[in-house]
Amino acid sequence: MLDDMVAAIETRSAQGIAAAIGRLVSGGDLPVGTRLPTVRELSAALHVSPTTVSEAWKTLAAVGAIEPRGRLGTFVRRPPGPGTGQRYRRVTEGPGHFELDLSTGTPDVALLPDLQPIVAEVSRQSLTSTYVDRPVLPDLWEHLRAAWPFPPEELTVVDGAMDALDRIARVVVRLGDRVVVENPTFPPALDLLDHLGAEVIGVGLDSDGISLAGLAAALEANPSMVYLQPRAQNPTGITMTAKRAKAVARLLAASSAIVVEDDHSGDIASGTLVSIGTWLPERTVHIRGFSKSHGPDLRLAAAGGAASVIDAVTTRRLIGPGWSSRILQSVLLALLTEPGPVGQVETARVEYGHRRATFVQALGQHGLEATGTDGINVWVPVADERSALVQLAAQGIGVAPGEPFMVNRDGDHLRITIGLVDSTGDAIERLAAQVAEAAGVRTLVSG
Ligand SMILES: Cc1ncc(COP(=O)(O)O)c(C=O)c1O
Repeated sequence: MLDDMVAAIETRSAQGIAAAIGRLVSGGDLPVGTRLPTVRELSAALHVSPTTVSEAWKTLAAVGAIEPRGRLGTFVRRPPGPGTGQRYRRVTEGPGHFELDLSTGTPDVALLPDLQPIVAEVSRQSLTSTYVDRPVLPDLWEHLRAAWPFPPEELTVVDGAMDALDRIARVVVRLGDRVVVENPTFPPALDLLDHLGAEVIGVGLDSDGISLAGLAAALEANPSMVYLQPRAQNPTGITMTAKRAKAVARLLAASSAIVVEDDHSGDIASGTLVSIGTWLPERTVHIRGFSKSHGPDLRLAAAGGAASVIDAVTTRRLIGPGWSSRILQSVLLALLTEPGPVGQVETARVEYGHRRATFVQALGQHGLEATGTDGINVWVPVADERSALVQLAAQGIGVAPGEPFMVNRDGDHLRITIGLVDSTGDAIERLAAQVAEAAGVRTLVSG
């Protein structure tokens, strides 16, 4: 192997060595798991200094092509690419033609605010004069800052909460870093962290939020990032209490991790928003989503907090899209400030709360204790995930399997987006009976 590598290296600089080995890895000539020669062996064979080879190794490790494993040596790593995104795919891979598809995690379109009057107003404006305008419309910036759960050092608007998480994680997380997440959590976040080559540590939740004992243990691994969902946690529907948030902040104060909070449900969450940024503003980045409250196709979210992170995100974005459409930002500002849409979102929040509570209560009457005190999702324990999915699918009902949400498998679950089921009539009660049956628990109350 050493001879083949030497033959493939045309330019004996750090860059030339990295490029040649990179080509061997992506071409499959050095398969995943191959142990590479030591720095000393390769430098001797190439007649270059060990520093040159070690710089090449660093470049290859930074792009995820190779992985140093201490005394064991350096190995070819599975490259990010087609293999990633798998968890998310597993949530959405159902047949897609259910009579009632509750697998999606999306809001009820009937409860989204009406865009028509607002779009008509915005169409008469010209909102961008140069490519170097500030990325956020000044009035929207002021509105968001005033509504932020703590005074943000910096604030920006990007294309959705997931885009915010992606951009922030790319700034904060380096290959091999540890990242703490709630277990279970949002599958695309796990896919993203896999893609970045992070080592994910899952910490369980109770009804008040992330477990303190679990978090304390995880922080010993010195993570670079802690990803939390303070409200309507997806999939469990748990909202963190103020008391828990304070205790979490106390633990985090002793670490150097950046806290990334994803308030993806925003205005349709009914719990009081608490933020770790209240105590650690210079190390917290808070994301506020608008997809659930104002519509996924607005593709907007705000991210604010630690300037060290937000500035890096906006600077990097200048060599990409630059900003999120100011036309859409202007629509969002109107949606957040005009009484009509504000009232519609308030109605949606109340209605979601009603749907969720009705469902959880009805499941309880069938002896099934589900989690879900906020947002549009309910997390239901089942005896066997696969057979519950199949049984519900046979009745035309799609739900999400629990497995893709899990870092460490802890029982079988379903995530059900109950926010999509109208509460008029007895549709929710009938659904609860079907879910309880599929969950394989004994029915305590019949009928
Ligand atoms: C926890 C979490 N983060 C992010 C998102 C994606 O939000 P957005 O549509 O704003 O990208 C979702 C959507 O379900 C979510 O549940």
